[in-house]
Parts: sequence; C-alpha cells; structure tokens
Amino acid sequence: MRTETPPTIRLADYQRSDHLIDRVDLDIRLDPHASRVTAVLALRPNPEGVPGAPLVLDGDELKLVAVALDGEVMLENAYTATPSGLTIHRPPQRPFTLSIETEIDPTANTKLMGLYRSSGVYCTQCEADGFRRITYFLDRPDILSIYTTRIEASREEAPVLLGNGNPVESGDVPDTDRHYAIWQDPHPKPAYLFAVVGGRLGSVSGRFTTSEGRQVGLGVYVEPGKEARADYALDAVARSMKWDEDVFGRAYDLDVFNVVAVSDFNMGAMENKGLNIFNDKYVLASPETATDADYANIEAIIAHEYFHNWSGNRVTCRDWFQLCLKEGLTVFRDQEFSSDMRSRAVHRISEVRTLRARQFPEDAGPLAHPVRPKQYAEINNFYTATVYEKGAEIVRMLKTLIGEESFRKGMDRYFADNDGTAATVEDFLSAFATETGRDLSHFAQWYERPGTPRIAVSGHYDAAAKTYRLDFRQTRPGAGADAPPLVIPVALGLVGEHGPLDAKSERVRGGVFVLDKPKDSLVFENVASQPVPSLFRDFSAPVRVEIGLSDAERLTLLRHDPDAFNRWESAQRVALRIVIEAARSGAQQLDGAEGFADALAAFLDQEALNDPAFAALMLALPTEGEVASEIGANIDPDAILSARRRLRQAIAARLCEPLFALRETLAEPAGAPFSPDAASAGRRAFRNAALDLIAVADPERGTALARAQIADATTMTDRLAGLATLSQIPGEPREIELAAFAERYADEPLILDKWLAIQAAIAEDGTLARIGRLQQHPAFSITNPNRVRSLVGVFSLSNATQFNRADGAGYALVAETVMALDRRNPQIAARLLTAFGSWRQLEPARRAAAEAALRGIAAAEGLSRDVADIAGRSLQ
Ligand code: PHE
Ligand code: ZN
Repeated sequence: MRTETPPTIRLADYQRSDHLIDRVDLDIRLDPHASRVTAVLALRPNPEGVPGAPLVLDGDELKLVAVALDGEVMLENAYTATPSGLTIHRPPQRPFTLSIETEIDPTANTKLMGLYRSSGVYCTQCEADGFRRITYFLDRPDILSIYTTRIEASREEAPVLLGNGNPVESGDVPDTDRHYAIWQDPHPKPAYLFAVVGGRLGSVSGRFTTSEGRQVGLGVYVEPGKEARADYALDAVARSMKWDEDVFGRAYDLDVFNVVAVSDFNMGAMENKGLNIFNDKYVLASPETATDADYANIEAIIAHEYFHNWSGNRVTCRDWFQLCLKEGLTVFRDQEFSSDMRSRAVHRISEVRTLRARQFPEDAGPLAHPVRPKQYAEINNFYTATVYEKGAEIVRMLKTLIGEESFRKGMDRYFADNDGTAATVEDFLSAFATETGRDLSHFAQWYERPGTPRIAVSGHYDAAAKTYRLDFRQTRPGAGADAPPLVIPVALGLVGEHGPLDAKSERVRGGVFVLDKPKDSLVFENVASQPVPSLFRDFSAPVRVEIGLSDAERLTLLRHDPDAFNRWESAQRVALRIVIEAARSGAQQLDGAEGFADALAAFLDQEALNDPAFAALMLALPTEGEVASEIGANIDPDAILSARRRLRQAIAARLCEPLFALRETLAEPAGAPFSPDAASAGRRAFRNAALDLIAVADPERGTALARAQIADATTMTDRLAGLATLSQIPGEPREIELAAFAERYADEPLILDKWLAIQAAIAEDGTLARIGRLQQHPAFSITNPNRVRSLVGVFSLSNATQFNRADGAGYALVAETVMALDRRNPQIAARLLTAFGSWRQLEPARRAAAEAALRGIAAAEGLSRDVADIAGRSLQ
C-alpha cells in the first residue's frame, strides 16, 4: 500500500474550540518504560462554541489506563478511546473535570516528541503537537490553561525534577526510593509550552533582579561534569533579561528561569515557560571546546528562547498558521540583541547571508510558501527559513517604514492588548495601525505572498539639469501580471567618485523611499556629477535587485559608501558577476578579476586593522549555493565550483603577501587571556580567512601554517580553522591531522560533529567513500540528530558538487539516510529531504537523477506524514 496523501489543514477553516480547559493538574510518575501520567482537566463549554458538541481530545500513540468524569469512572459506551484520540460523546453542558490516566514508554520514544529520554535524562518536547503524546488533550495553541505539575521519580535516577513556573513543594515519597516535586505556573499557557525534566544533572546558578524588583533564580542544567561549560549560557540569560527590559520594556514574570541542555533534540531549543530545553550544542562552551561561532549561536539562541517569554508565551498564537507571529518577531528581537552585543554591520551581513543561503532557495523552489502559510499537511515541516528569517525581515521592514519610536509604541500596544491571549498576524499589525494611524493592509501582503520579489532599477543622469532619476519596477516570479505589488522600503543614497553625495529627493524621507506600486520613479536634485546609486542599504527589504552597474561603479561603492552593508554587497556583486560569467563560458581567464583583487587589496590596506571582522567578511566570496541561486536555472555545480576556485586563486595570488603580514600583525600576543567577545572573534576570523587564502595561493606554505596552528591553537576556533584549511588540500598531512583530531576529542561528541562536518564538505570524488566510512565510525550515530545533521545534512547543504554528482550517488546517499531515519525520527528525515528542494533548477541530467531519487522515496510504503509531505510537495 502506498502512503496516502495526508489530509490538508486550512487557515480558512479555523474554528474555535467548543470546550475550554481552565486548569490542568498533572501527576507524572517517571519510569523508564512505564511512566504514568494522570491529568485532571477542569473543562467547561466554550460560551462561543457549539452547545452540546462532543469533546474530542487529541492523542498520539497513547495508551489509556483509566478515565473518570467528575470522579466517577466512565461507562465504556460514554467514550471512544484510540491511540490517537479520546472522544467523550455527551460531555456535561456545565463545568466538569475529566481525569485521564495514560501510560508511556519514554525509552522507546525515538521521535523525540512528547516524553522521551536523552542519555538517561527524562525530558519533553511539546511544540507543535507533542503534548498529545503525554495525555489526551485539546492540543491546540488557543487553549490556554493554568498548570500544576507533580513530578515523581526514583531519587537515584532523577535527583533533579523541573517543571514550568515556580517550585512550590518537594519531598520524599514515604517508604520508597522515590521523591517528588510540585511546580505551579500562574500564567495561562497552551500545551505546547508545557515541559518537565528529570535526571542526573549538574548546574550553575545565578540571580537576576528585574526592573519590577522581582528576584529571579537562574539555573543552567547540563550533564554532570560539564558545569564549567554552562557559564557563558548563564551569562547570556542575564544579559537577555536586561536587554529585553531596556529595549522592549519587557520584564520576566516568574521566580525562576531554568535552561536544560540535552544531547538528543530535534531542533535548536524550545521556549517552554520558565523551563527552556536546549540542544546541548547551543549551551555548552569553553575556549577549548567551542568556536567563536558557537559562542555567538549560544548567545543568540539563549536570547531567542528567553525573548519568547513575551513574544510567544505571554502573547501566543491562535493557530499554527500564525507561527511567524512568534518566530519571525522573536528572530527579529534576537537579531537586534546580537547586533547590540556585537557589531551591528557584521551581524547584519551574517543575517543576510543566512537568508540568501536558506530562504531565497526555499522561496524559489517547490517548497515555497507564504510567511503565513494558508494550508499544511504537517506543521513540523513549516519551521522554515521563510517563517523564521523572512518573518523577521517583515518585522524589520515595518520598523523601517514607521520609524523607531512608533515601532516601540506599537510593540508596547501589541503586548498590552494581547497579553494572556492567543493572537493573529492581524492583531499584530493592528497594534501598529492604531498607534500610527496608518493603514497597514497593503503591507500585510508580505505575509500572504510567497516568492522573492525582483526589483529592476535603472538610473538616468541629466547633466544639464543636474538631476538624477531612478526608475523602479517590482515583479514576483510565478506571480501573474495583475498580482498586487508589495510595500517595499528602499533605504538609499547616492555616492560619487570621492564620497557620498548629499543630493535630495522629496520622495525620500529619513533615507527611505517607499516603493508600493508596480512601477515608480524618483528624482534627486542638485546632483553635481554622475552618481552611483546605493540601494537597499542595510538590506532594507528581502528582495533581489537587478541593476546594471559596472564593476567600476560597484567598486566606487565598495570604497565610499557610508553604508557598511552595501560596501560588502558591492564586493559580493562583483564576485558573483565574475564567477557566473566564468561558469557560463568556462574560460580560464577571468574578466575583471584583477581589478577586483586590487580593490580588495586597497580595502585591506586601509581597513583590515580597524575592523578585522568586517574585513574577514569582505574576503569571503559568495558560496557555491549563492552562485547557483543567482543563476537560477540549468545549474551545473561543477562549473560553479571550478569558476569560484579560479576567482579564489586569482585573489589569493594577489593578496597572499599582504594577508600574511596582516595575519602576523593581528596575532594574539602569547599568553593573552581568551575572550569570546566580538573584537577578539573578529581578529580570529580575519586571521583564519587569511590562512585559507594563503593556502590557496601556496598549498605547501598553507599546509605548514595550518599544521602549526592546529598544534599551537589555544582556542577551538583556531584549531578547527587550521583543520578546515587543511581539509581542502588533498594528501597525507590532511589524513594525519584528521586522525589525530578524532583521537584527541574521542570523548567529545560536539567537537566530533565539527570533524564530521569538515569531512562531509570536502569537494572531492573520494568524499562519498569517506562518508561511508564515517557512518561506521563510533563518533557517528543515526539516532542522534546532531550527528546526522553534521554528516549527512552538511553533505547535502554544503557540498554542492558531491551531493549533485552526475552519477546520482550523492542523491542516493541522502535518500538512503532519509529512509533509514523515517521510521525512527520522521521530523529529522523530512528536514534532510528538503535538500532536494532546488532540484528543478539543475541541468537536465542531474535534474533527472534527483527526480528519480525523490520519486523513489515518494513511492515507498509506510512513509511518515512528514516525509510524504516534503516528497509530495517537492515533486509538485
Ligand atoms: N519554538 C522553537 C524556537 O524557539 C523551535 C522548536 C520548534 C523547537 C518545534 C522544537 C520543536 O524556535
Ligand atoms: Zn523561536
């Protein structure tokens, strides 16, 4: 039997629940194979629902032990129970209680949804619909209840017992080896924010006094022995709390805030009320074990989950179509936090790189969807770059359009008006509309339309009149000619040969022109000489820009644009042009490469020492993926790799000596203490970008430098960068260092993930065989999501030529992994399968091979809904 097409859930079909649950009293008795959950639900008919409607509770793989109504055991014909639901046929039309006892085997739970065990630690994951794997419930985000949770476990097995809210009581269970803890959460919440943890855990703790005078106890719980690696996360919690007070006026609202790190986790982390649960990769850090990128990620994700306490928890989502309401907004908030903690320009560039690497391709392929989807078959497949990253860009555009002050007022109103409720995108926008008196219904289109808009721009200088006109035209691929235009903030300015020009246009306010028609023009006055337009400064809208600037004009921006983002962007554009032309022509001689390399040399000369982090980004050429996404059709990954390599060669040859010198100048003095701050990380980033290019220019010298760095490194950033550089140089030294690294870190799974990832990304024919060997290596395990992502995920996303091998062997490898995973963890299997999302843009032979692999999966029997959904939509 082939898997049936999963049923579709539509936004347009939203209906209020006929019943409400005011209070939930849980008694959870933890046991490795037979955990018992008793849920006492205080129910009542929803005054706005259908009177007398049956009560239909969700379940998923549940085993019912007992059910009672108002304390009376229910007659068997009064209800129907299956693993996936419990229906009470004629519930009382007055408030009543329902007591439900279920039994769960957390050890057998390989989906990592509901109650499961990670390295022996009991933990839960309920978003989006995992609570129904714990007890029968109205498992939907618009059902808000007050929870009290009693957790009981063997003292030996689980000395630490954590729940949502505040701890109210704990003690021993008389005459047993067991103990219990009771937690009470005073804030109404949807079931997806529920969590418990029980296990042997070490911890670090701190205190924070809120602006409202509340004393909050902070705790970060990790595997015993790793407490020292939790300090940075703890510090990031305190900084997040302070920042949300200072910047958004949001104070914390419980007496404790706990973070728990677990090693088996499907996503990055989860914002359960007062009890955030994290993938340990985003908690654990020490100079010897974590890279600067790890520190930055930990800071950002700790902040993200903490910020959810207001954007997500206090104000939650009415239904899962509104996911961007909490995710896009919270990503925007964590981006602002990181920008304030680090360098704003550098951070903005990294945000845009992520958007272009993940969201643009998604929006250009069969998995494209609006930021607020209109329908889904499996909600877990909609935790996407579009919902998160494009969702954040929409919030950013709103702020650009209405200005900082109105934005803050609108946010205050949104929180005040919707506190304690489950809201919609409309509620969000209406807070800003009310505050500013503006009609935002046109702007709202950003939530409804998939696809990256294209903005074609042309500039016309009138030397006699000293005016400069810019003509704009917006289109969206796949949208009809009559599709409504979007409201697009264009931050812009003009730049001349010697610096920024101070020309004015009455249509530009605060540096922003608002393009809200299919076509529009604006004129600058008093323009003394032919200018170069600097458009979409700071990436003011998530669009693709088509403008026929010459390299020389772009390099003028690189030199003189006051907008750091566009200086970087200009270099990227020149590089893209060169690589794309070379990939098309196959020519050895790269047109314009010398001029580009000279411009980079001049830039380095002036700026590398001032801002090494920014300089490191200048040296990073667009990735193969970005080149492919820019080309958009008939893609030959081999041609792209080779063209990009040639440009790198040309740049490396020109910059090798200055880079060598700068690398020495920026070296950390011996014995300097480690700091993960942005300035120190920036110096490391620059030195390592330099090392990489030196190795391209002179592999022998690069090998020697990389090996010395691996040997002498005092940080994981430097040691790993040495290894990454060496991984690009085939030969014995590489194999020796890879083997030594594995041995050195044999007991450090998170470090070996990096080792797996480096090898998965090697763009060589031998990589497939290497991955085959690594799958057998003790460091790898198909049951752990981090291991799978590091090896097979990185291969599919960061090794374009090997994943897209002409013989189809790369597709086969990923397809086999998807199938092997589907039975145990469908969410991870489906996520891996999204790597095929751009298959239609490949050249015909590879397109056929990719399609065959996808069809093979789609035709398999007994597929999960997750994988069936991705395979089906990919083939549409
Ligand atoms: N809500 C989590 C976040 O902060 C992501 C997540 C979704 C985690 C689903 C687990 C399961 O983005
Ligand atoms: Zn989130």
